[in-house]
Amino acid sequence: MEKLVINGPTRLCGDVDITGAKNAAVAIIPATLLIDGICTLENVPNISDVKMCCSIMQKLGVKIDWLSNHSIRVDTRNISSTIAPYDMTSKFRASYYLLGALLSRCGKAEVGLPGGCNLGARPIDQHIKGFEALGASVTVAQGKISAKANCLIGTSIYLDTVSVGATINVMLASVLADGTTTIDNAAKEPHVVDVANFLNTMGADIRGAGTDIIKINGVKALHGNATYSVVPDQIEAGTFMLAAVASKGDITIKNCITKHLECVTAKLLEIGAHVEDIDGDTLRVWASKRPNKATIKTAPYPGFPTDLQPQMGVVLAIANGTSIINESIWDSRFQYTAELNKMGANITASGKSAVFQGVNELSAAPVYSTDLRAGAALIIAGTIAKGKTEVYNLEHIDRGYEHIEDKFRNLGAKIERVSE
Ligand code: UD1
Repeated sequence: MEKLVINGPTRLCGDVDITGAKNAAVAIIPATLLIDGICTLENVPNISDVKMCCSIMQKLGVKIDWLSNHSIRVDTRNISSTIAPYDMTSKFRASYYLLGALLSRCGKAEVGLPGGCNLGARPIDQHIKGFEALGASVTVAQGKISAKANCLIGTSIYLDTVSVGATINVMLASVLADGTTTIDNAAKEPHVVDVANFLNTMGADIRGAGTDIIKINGVKALHGNATYSVVPDQIEAGTFMLAAVASKGDITIKNCITKHLECVTAKLLEIGAHVEDIDGDTLRVWASKRPNKATIKTAPYPGFPTDLQPQMGVVLAIANGTSIINESIWDSRFQYTAELNKMGANITASGKSAVFQGVNELSAAPVYSTDLRAGAALIIAGTIAKGKTEVYNLEHIDRGYEHIEDKFRNLGAKIERVSE
C-alpha cells in the first residue's frame, strides 16, 4: 500500500503546468469509436482513469499506441466486440460513454453499470431517456446496461437535469443519426465543448456546445486522419489556485484557460486573495493573509464546480469567521470534512450543507482520501498543517491527477510517496 507523507507547513510558491482534462479525455477516447479510421490525441493526461479507458477500448478491438507521455494514436478500424468487460467498467465512471459511442457506431452496446467515486446516488436515467428518444431500446439487468437500435433518428431531447454525462452521451449517440437532434437544458462545462470540438474536427456537425441548446446535424461518417489536443484541466488548475490561497503562497498556473476559472477567481477575490490573469493561459494566484469567510454553492458550469468543493473546504477551514458550503450536485460530497476535523478543523456537515468555523491552523494526522477530489483537498491540508500528515487511499487521487506529488514538491512541499 502506498501513502503520501507530507511535512508541513509550507508556503507553496512557484510555477505549475496543467495537464489535459481528465473529464474531457475519458469522453474523447470513447468518442473515437465513431471514427472508422485513425486519429491522434495530444495533451492526454497520463492518469489511471485514462489508462483504464484505453484498456477497455483495447478489449473492444481498438488499437491504441502511446506516441509519447501525453499523446496517443487510436485506430478504430477493427471493432471486434460491443461488450465492455464488466470488471473493468464497474471501476470506471466514464465507461457510460461507451454506450453512446458503440450504439452509434455498431447499433448495440453492453456496459457494466459504471463505478467511480462514491459521491452518493449517480443515476443515468437521462442518458437512457436520450438513447430511447433516438430510437434505441435499453435494458438494465444484472448490473449491466444494454442498448440496441436498428437505426437512430434525430429528435428533440429535453434533459430534466443539467448533466455533463447525459449531454455528452446523447451527443455521441446522435452524431451519426439520421436527421437533426436538439439537446435542451444541456450542460455547458468546458469538457462538453471540448468533446464537440473533437467530433467537429473529425467531421461531425455539432452547434451550440457551451450553451444550453446543442444542435447535432447527423452526418454519414467521421473521417479521422486528424490530430486533436485535449483542453487543459480546469479542475487541476483550480486545485492549485486553492492550494496557493490555503498556504498563503504564490503560484503561477501555466497552460490553463483562465476563462474557465472565472467563478473560482471571483470567490478568491471575495475572500481577500489576489488573482492576476496574465495572458488568458496563465494565472498568478497569491495570498498574504488568512482568507475571509465565504458562502459557496456548487452549481453546473459556469457556477462553482462541485469538483473544487473539497479543496475550497480546506481554504474555508482556516478562514477568518464562519463559512457555509451548500453542495447542490452530489449527496455525499462532505466525507472529507471528517478527515479535516482529525486535523483540527471545526466543520459540521449535515446532508448537503456544511458549516466551517474557521480555525487558525491545521495540525498533522493520518487521513484517508474518500474520493478523488477529497484526496486533493487532503494533500493541500497536509502541506499547510503543522507536522507529518499521512494521506492514504491514493488510488482515488491517481485516477485524476498526474504526478501530483511531483507538482506539489516543485512548489516547495515536503511530500514523498512511500510504500508500506
Ligand atoms: C461529471 C464529472 C464529475 C463531476 C460532475 C458534475 C466526468 C467523468 N465526471 O460527472 O467529475 O462531479 O460531472 O460536474 O465527467 N443526474 C441525474 N440523472 C442522470 C445524470 C445525472 O439525475 O441521468 C444528476 C446527478 O445525480 C447529479 C447531476 O445530475 O446530481 C449532475 O450529474 P452529471 O453532470 O451527469 O455528472 P457526471 O457526468 O456523472
